[in-house]
Amino acid sequence: MNFADWMSAVQNRTEDALAHWLPPADTQPARLHDAMRYAVLGGGKRIRPLLCHAAGAALGALPTDLDRAACAVELIHAYSLVHDDLPCMDDDKLRRGKPTVHVEYDEATALLVGDALQSLAFQVLINQPVDNLHDSHIAGQVDSPGLMGLPYCQRRLSMLLLLAQAAGSRGMAGGQAIDLAAVGQTLALEELELMHIHKTGALIRAAVLLGAHCGNADADTQTTLSHFANRIGLLFQVVDDILDTEASTATLGKTAGKDAAQNKPTYVSLLGITRAKALAAELRDEALAALAPLGDRAERLGGLTRYIVERRF
Ligand code: IPE
Ligand code: IPE
Ligand code: MG
Ligand code: MG
Ligand code: MG
Repeated sequence: MNFADWMSAVQNRTEDALAHWLPPADTQPARLHDAMRYAVLGGGKRIRPLLCHAAGAALGALPTDLDRAACAVELIHAYSLVHDDLPCMDDDKLRRGKPTVHVEYDEATALLVGDALQSLAFQVLINQPVDNLHDSHIAGQVDSPGLMGLPYCQRRLSMLLLLAQAAGSRGMAGGQAIDLAAVGQTLALEELELMHIHKTGALIRAAVLLGAHCGNADADTQTTLSHFANRIGLLFQVVDDILDTEASTATLGKTAGKDAAQNKPTYVSLLGITRAKALAAELRDEALAALAPLGDRAERLGGLTRYIVERRF
């Protein structure tokens, strides 16, 4: 399968799995469930699920086993976007080409959507049926018991811990706190790197490592993927900063030029566009070099690395 077809296949199966695990829009409280589906479905590049599937594919994991991890990290990401857009944070009106959740619904609903998506992410990952919300499963989406060397429960706990840490105050939420405190400030390069590694890098890293957990990753392979994930996590936000200044609102599906308008320190504000692009190219090369020990098995991860730099939105 070529890279573009593989990407579409993963995006489609992720959409189907998310649509399945999200409670139906007419289940009470219907307004909340409707807003959760609005926030998650029908948009987004699904980069984190793609990274999860690509890392798993490198280690021979089955796509059906990767769906839970991929969806769990995407649910956390979707929650982070809903909260990121709130008036008390970035105050954005447009996301994924649609009005933001607090604009389409209301602020209290947007807050609860974030809370509930975070909770659902862990329900999905823990492999508990979400039958208290709705019944039936997607055929073939129950994890096979023999994944990886670790006993089933131990591996599941490691994955839960990994995602919890990535989402928490020393991961994404902490990065968002640094971001808000940095408005109007000129950060040193190391401080900016720390902010980006947390607010965006943490979940990207979790996506890769959760995929690795679904495959047979020995300690060396985990180290290789961890190094790769650190580079690509930073790279992703550097490119987001560049696109914020260079792309249009129509292409991005979110308001362009927000970082400068809100006086946010970014790689572009600190280094200028030319050096920011040079840094992105450097991080791409470091990420690709980190994959070398995996040889051909890293084909999808390499493809995603290039996609992240070359993307237009
Ligand atoms: C946007 O993430 C927010 C950042 C962490 C930079 P994405 O660019 O992955 O957003 P979607 O999921 O494709 O909408
Ligand atoms: C968002 O960073 C990071 C998280 C949502 C955790 P940005 O604020 O730069 O993301 P966009 O540009 O609004 O998508
Ligand atoms: Mg933000
Ligand atoms: Mg934002
Ligand atoms: Mg941004």
